[in-house]
This record gives sequence, C-alpha cells and structure tokens, in this order.
Amino acid sequence: MHFFRFKKNQLYCEEQSVEAIAQKVATPFYLYSQKTIVENFGRIDRAFSGLDHLICYALKANSNEALLSLLAECGAGADVVSRGELFLAIKSGFDPKKIVYAGVGKRDDEIKFALEKNILAFNVESTEELGVINGIAGGLKKKAPVAIRINPNIDIHGHPYISTGKSADKFGIELPVARATIHDLGQYSNIQLIGLHCHLGSQITEIAPYLRAVKILRDLADEVRLAGHTLLYVDIGGGLGVSYQNVFDDLEAVSDTPIDLAQLVQRLRPDFQSLGCKVIFEPGRALVAEAGILVTRVLYQKVSQGKRFVIVDAAMNDLIRPSLYGAYHEIVPVLKRGGEWVHADVVGPICESGDFLGRDRRLPELARGDLLAIMTAGAYGFVLSSNYNARPRPAEILVDGSGYRLIRPAGQVDTLWT
Ligand code: LLP
Repeated sequence: MHFFRFKKNQLYCEEQSVEAIAQKVATPFYLYSQKTIVENFGRIDRAFSGLDHLICYALKANSNEALLSLLAECGAGADVVSRGELFLAIKSGFDPKKIVYAGVGKRDDEIKFALEKNILAFNVESTEELGVINGIAGGLKKKAPVAIRINPNIDIHGHPYISTGKSADKFGIELPVARATIHDLGQYSNIQLIGLHCHLGSQITEIAPYLRAVKILRDLADEVRLAGHTLLYVDIGGGLGVSYQNVFDDLEAVSDTPIDLAQLVQRLRPDFQSLGCKVIFEPGRALVAEAGILVTRVLYQKVSQGKRFVIVDAAMNDLIRPSLYGAYHEIVPVLKRGGEWVHADVVGPICESGDFLGRDRRLPELARGDLLAIMTAGAYGFVLSSNYNARPRPAEILVDGSGYRLIRPAGQVDTLWT
C-alpha cells in the first residue's frame, strides 16, 4: 500500500508532484510519503488487535529522525541493534520501555548504555553474551531484563544474505543450548529472563516459516514458565516481505505485502492467546519500503554492442540493494511522455560494472535530464548508502499531503572527510 500515483502522466507522492520537487531539490534524492508510513503502521497494528501486542519498528530499515518521530507518535516501540540506533530511538521519542535490543555483537559500552536507559530487554544471542550482560548489570547494581533469541533452524527460502533463522546463520542460540540456558539461569544472578525472541530473516513471502517458528516459541514458553520464570513477551521478529514488482497495478489493494498479515495473525491467534503474554512484532521493511522512492536524472545514454545503457546520477552508493542482493526495484519515468519503448540497463556513474539500478528494463525513450523514480526504496535504501567514489549522500524529503520538507540535506563535498 502506498500513495504514489500517476495523475495526468505525472508521478505524484500524495498530493505533491515529484517533478515540482525535483525543480527545487538537486537529484538524486529520496522522497518519502508520510501517509504511507502511518497507514502501514495502522494496518499492521490492527492485524494484532485484541491481542496484547507491541509493534517494534526495526530502525535499521530507515533511521531518519523524522520517520522515527512519526512512528514513535503512532505508538510504535523500537527494535535496535546498536548504541547509535538506541540513541536515535530515544532522541526521537520512543519510550525506552518499548525498546528491544538485538544483535550478535553488542559491545560492553553498548550494554552499559542500554542498561542505564532502562530498555525493555536485550534479545540475547549467545551464552557468552549473557555472561557479559550479567557482569555489567552487577557492576551497575541492576538486574538486566533479557529475552533468549533462539535459532529455530527454519528456512525462509530467500536470499542467503538476509536469512537469519537457519542453524548455519550466525544469529540466535540453538534450541538445545537455549533450553539448557533457561534451566540453568541461576548462575546469572543479575539476569531476569522475561522473553523469548526469534527472527527468521527478511523479505519473507510465505506463511509457513512463521507458523513453525511460533509453534517452537509456544512450546519453549511452557518450559520457561515451568522453570519458574515470568514470561512477559514473545517476540516473533520482523521479516514481512513487500511487493517490489507491479507497484502501480491493483491500486485498490488493501495490502500488497505478499503475505496477508491479518490472516496470518488470525491463524496464529490461538497460539498467541495460549502464550498468555505480550506478542512483539518487529517489522522494518513492511512499514517503510513502499513509502520511499529514489529520484534520479538521466545523464547520458549509449548503445554498446546493441545493448542500451541509461546512465543516471544515482548509483550503488545511494541504493545498494540491486548490486548487493540482485534486488529488483521498479523504475518508472516521473513524466510519462509515450513514444517508443526500449530495453536498457539503468546504471550509475560509479566505476564498477556491478553499479546498476536495473537490468534489461523496458522504458520509454528517454532524453538527457529526464527524471526516473526507483520505487520501493524506503527500506534499506538511504541507511545503506555510502560515500563510495567520494559521492556525497543524497538528500531526504518527506511529503505530507500537498507539502514537503527536507528531512536530511544532501551531503557536501567539503565535509566528505568528517
Ligand atoms: N528484527 C531483527 C532482529 C532483524 O535483524 C531485522 C532485519 C528486522 C527485525 C527487520 O526485518 P524486516 O521486517 O525489515 O524484514 N538489507 C537487507 C535486509 C536486512 C535485514 C536485517 N534484519 C535488504 O535490503 O533486503
């Protein structure tokens, strides 16, 4: 679900013409629709209605402060993975009691910072980490609230780089060790076990992995209680996939995530109810991916051995997903002019053949200066940008209805060293 539409062959973000913004703001830039984020949050939150639940936004998907404040105002909690993300979450208004902290490599200073901020819990990923948190909490005369992140060995059939729930992945604690740890927590006198956690991976498009994971978590929850712990939450992770194709088809669809979340939660409802505690869901992509586009201008075109290249001013340093994961992002002209169709690779100026935004795309004939929109770029777009080739990062703009504002200025060449 998103609010990008063509009106009279011009791309609009909500009530704002994208072309009009590009007359004022230098390309490339990210453009986000506030309404899309708010509606997505409402849709996900409503799917869990009637259940004691908390939607913890995974900041890693997009941590622009304006978007964070918006989601904090919507009532979201936060899933963070670093001191930086925790700092940004608190600064932008998330209640620390709604923040969970995951990650396989939490540093001592990060653990101390999180304990001082009184977050909801650490999602712990190894027994060694548990020992370290126990020691640091003791030094602060605190009890550290933790959830055990299990590795359930479940395949999501996705890209290997973004699968996290198989035993060959570095994440979580394998089940036999998790069980032993739950029964052996007495040795950690400064730890309070309050939750269970599991995150299977990202861009999940099947419901079966979620069903299997929740079953495992539910059985483990019984063991946690039998071992005498008070379970306050079960966190099922994030991972809900979005549609990267046919972005402008089926505009009336209520949800165009490949999984019908409301139906999934309905199926899981008996399990969730029998858990007798809060359910946490940690979506990142499903909240912000469709809310963002990357706007770029055509610089040059050329044909080499019959193959056409459209060279644009955005590159892999601005949006690395196509280069890194072979990810598909739909690319559309901001102004539709008609004319002949061509097939072309849309590539950036970076000095690597892996620098492409789309390969063999069907596009109308383009001219120097034409604007293109790379769709569904709101998640893992700007956050994964870099200064490679000494290219300053793109600006970020937020549209709200018929207005827009700069929410992060473009980087500058004279600050590339800072
Ligand atoms: N919770 C945990 C513990 C995670 O590691 C992640 C994502 C999420 C929640 C949110 O997952 P989401 O709902 O966004 O799928 N850069 C990759 C995605 C990496 C995801 C890493 N972890 C991409 O561009 O596809």
